[in-house]
Amino acid sequence: MKLIGKIFAVIVTVLILMIVGVIAYVNTALPAVENAPELSVELSPERIERGKYLANYVYLCTDCHSDRNYAQFAHVLDENNLGKGGNLFGLEHGFPGDFYAKNLTPYNLGDWTDGEIYRAITSGVDNEGEPMFPIMPYPNYAQVDPEDIYDIIAYLRTLEPVAHDVPESSAPFPMSMIMRTMPTNPQMNSKPDLSDNIAYGKYLVTAASCADCHTPIDERGGRLPGMDFAGGMDFHVPGGLVKSANITPDPKTGIGTWSEEAFVAAFKRFEDPNHEVNNRQLTPGEYNTSMPWRLYSKMNEEDLSAIYAYLQTLTPVSNTMERFVAVNE
Ligand code: HEC
Ligand code: HEC
Repeated sequence: MKLIGKIFAVIVTVLILMIVGVIAYVNTALPAVENAPELSVELSPERIERGKYLANYVYLCTDCHSDRNYAQFAHVLDENNLGKGGNLFGLEHGFPGDFYAKNLTPYNLGDWTDGEIYRAITSGVDNEGEPMFPIMPYPNYAQVDPEDIYDIIAYLRTLEPVAHDVPESSAPFPMSMIMRTMPTNPQMNSKPDLSDNIAYGKYLVTAASCADCHTPIDERGGRLPGMDFAGGMDFHVPGGLVKSANITPDPKTGIGTWSEEAFVAAFKRFEDPNHEVNNRQLTPGEYNTSMPWRLYSKMNEEDLSAIYAYLQTLTPVSNTMERFVAVNE
C-alpha cells in the first residue's frame, strides 16, 4: 500500500511538472516568430497612393479599424476618423474572446518601427511579440507580396492621428494559450502579372480575405472541407443576421450564371450616387449586409474582372441559405 502510494505521488508530481513545463513553454517560447525585420519604408507619393488603394479598397484595413454606420445599406465608414479603431469582435458575437480592432493612426503606431508594423500585419504579433487572434486576417497577409505591405505601411504613416484609446483584447483560458500557437513566420510571394488573370485574381481574393467570410467554418474554427466559398456564415448587423452568399460557380445556388459585366456592376453600383442602393436609409431589422460592397466598389475594373475570372474556376458547390433574418435585440 505504502509503495503504491509513493508511486502514485511520483506520477502526480511528474504530471504536474509536465503541465507546468508545457504552460511555461507556451508562455515564454511562443509565439514562435522571428524578430521584427530591419526595415525603412520610403514615403514616396507612389507608395502612399498605392497603399491608400490597397488599405482601403482591397485589404480593407480601414473597414475593420474604423467606425461603421449601418444606417445606410452596406455600411459607410466614418471618413473623418479613418483607422481610429475600437470595433469589438466579441464573445457576444460568437468569437472566442473580446478582440478590439486597434487604432491604426500615428496616435497608436507612431512609435512602432516599420519592421514592427510589417511583422504585425504578416505574422500576427504586436510590437511586444504578443499574439493576435486571426480575425485580423494575418494568415492571408502572410502570403502576399511584401511590396503591398510596404505600400500600406507608407499610407498608414500619413493617416490623420486620432486620439482614441482602444481597450486591450482578452481571451479566456484555454484560448489565451491556444492563441500563442497561431502566429507564424510569413511565406511571402510575388504578385502575379496582370496578364495571368486567374492567378492575379486568386492573389486579390487572398489579399481581400473573401474566403474569411464566404467559407463556412466548423465549431473549432477550421474551414469546412468541400465548402470553399460556398457561403452560409452568420454576420451580425443591427437588428439582424445576414448570411454570406455562395460565390462558387454553381449555376443554381452560386454565381455560375453571372456574367463578368453583372459581377463588376454589382460592385460598381455602390459608386453611383444615383443608384438606389445609395439612397436608402435603413431602420434596424431591415435587410442589411456586412459585405463591404462600398469599399470593394472602388477597386478598379481590371481587379474586379480578375477576381471574377478566378471565382469562375472554383469547384461549384450547391448550398442555399436564407440571406437575412431579423432579430429582436
Ligand atoms: C477583419 C477585420 C480586420 C481587418 C480586415 C484588418 N484588421 Fe488589423 N486587427 C483586427 C483586430 C480584431 C485586431 C486586434 C487583434 C487582437 O487583439 O487579437 C487587429 C490588430 C491590428 C494591429 C495591432 C495593433 C496593436 O496596437 O496591437 C495592427 C498593426 C493591424 N491590425 C493592422 C492592420 C492592417 C494594416 C490591415 C490591412 C492590411 C488590417 N489590420 C486589417 C481586425 C482587422
Ligand atoms: C465581412 C464579410 C465579407 C467579406 C470580407 C466578403 N464578403 Fe461577399 N458577402 C458577404 C455577405 C454577408 C453577403 C450576403 C449579403 C449580400 O449580398 O450583401 C455577401 C455577398 C456577396 C456577393 C453576392 C452574391 C449573390 O448571390 O448575391 C458576392 C458576388 C460577393 N459577396 C463577393 C465577394 C468577394 C469577391 C469578396 C472578396 C473580394 C467578398 N465577397 C468578401 C460578406 C463578405
